[in-house]
Amino acid sequence: MKIDILLGLQWGDEGKGKVVDALCPAYDVVARFQGGPNAGHSLEFNNVKHVLHLIPSGIFHPEKLNIIGNGVVLDPAVFKCEIENLGPTVEELAGRLILSAKAHLILPTHRILDAAYENHKGNLRIGSTLKGIGPAYTDKAGRNGLRIGDILNPDFMKLYEEHRSAHLMILSNYNLAYDLKEYEKGWFEGIELLKKFRIENTEYLLNNLLSQGKKILAEGAQGTMLDLDFGSYPFVTSSSTISSGACTGLGISPGKIGEVFGIFKAYCTRVGSGPFPTELKEETGELLRKKGSEFGATTGRPRRCGWLDLPALRYAIMINGVTKLFMMKSDILSGFKTVRVCTSYKVAGKTQAEIPFDNNVDIEPVYAELDGWSEDITGIRQYPDLPLNLRKYIGFIEDQTGLPITIVSVGPDRNATIFR
Ligand code: GDP
Ligand code: IMO
Ligand code: MG
Repeated sequence: MKIDILLGLQWGDEGKGKVVDALCPAYDVVARFQGGPNAGHSLEFNNVKHVLHLIPSGIFHPEKLNIIGNGVVLDPAVFKCEIENLGPTVEELAGRLILSAKAHLILPTHRILDAAYENHKGNLRIGSTLKGIGPAYTDKAGRNGLRIGDILNPDFMKLYEEHRSAHLMILSNYNLAYDLKEYEKGWFEGIELLKKFRIENTEYLLNNLLSQGKKILAEGAQGTMLDLDFGSYPFVTSSSTISSGACTGLGISPGKIGEVFGIFKAYCTRVGSGPFPTELKEETGELLRKKGSEFGATTGRPRRCGWLDLPALRYAIMINGVTKLFMMKSDILSGFKTVRVCTSYKVAGKTQAEIPFDNNVDIEPVYAELDGWSEDITGIRQYPDLPLNLRKYIGFIEDQTGLPITIVSVGPDRNATIFR
């Protein structure tokens, strides 16, 4: 048995939460492999929308197991809020949500450091969600981190205080007002809550589940273009958002990877700073934002919107070894007379397929223009019933990427999903 991976191919918010929830009936286990409370994964059923940040998107299926892997950074305060908002009792949830002892903790001072660093960056601000992600992963890589397993150490309080002191020393160099006590209250309540859950070396558990023939879906957060190595550095997140991140973030060997499902919006969005070649800064972008309700699920910030970017999509497919594509938010493109797709970039007068290294290079997108469609497609459940021009749009992307689009999403609800 192999583990399948679902990950974002763009700048995050592709609809991972919705699609993991929709795919869940075919799996036994859902495991998050990286990121932390910077993620906001929305899913919708029975006319109620839920947003998850740390908890895997399989949690609304009571018979499925959910695992938070070692590659995640976890803020206990956020974890507590999320658990309390879910509905079922802690005891019930503890039976089907297991945490890696090796996942790193986001400390209250990590959040403050995030704000201090971001303020200091001036024009080079990343537009971080300010959830403490960068500082927590920095401490992990610097071998200064605290992990979930450490909370069971009788000397945990001492360890915590040592880390806090080190952070406060750094913070004394920044001119930033903060209320640490306020953060710490919820954080320590979260620590107590964490102790009610199974905390273990989930790499053994996951590999054992695989050998028992269980079907596992690895759920990515953020997107390939925000990857620490392959995104538009420094305008990226601090984790490995790509398929290899699922190996290191869960303890699964590359040979045990099955399908790599790459998900993308039928257009593009980005929240935060950084290059975005197809960004539409005029009324079409505004219209996409309005029709697509493109406001961040974690911070509420308006998302930047633009046409589909094939050079970026092909790059993401290459880096991840994507085997199948899922296209999300297809319904949002209904009503445009024509739709555009960027097929290559023009840099200094020359056409190129590659993404330039330098973020400051001027990129002129080269567009193909396709006829639009006007029908409301949110009620359609069979592929042949989709408007011809949408099917042509899908065919065009399949030709350009060489991969099949096997899911077409036509609305936020878990049922608004066309499987081909
Ligand atoms: P994630 O971070 O990848 O899980 O995506 P987000 O939840 O941050 O953003 C996706 C948004 O689009 C959410 O509000 C979803 O409810 C919504 N959504 C997902 N798929 C579709 C779709 O096919 N059509 C529409 N209209 N909305 C969708
Ligand atoms: P999901 O999982 C979209 C962006 C931030 C910022 C950059 C760094 O919901 O797709 P960080 O908080 O990691 O320091 O922010 O990355 N970002 C996201 N954008 N979706 C996300 O997650 C994101 N997580 C981080 O806006 O530009
Ligand atoms: Mg999101």
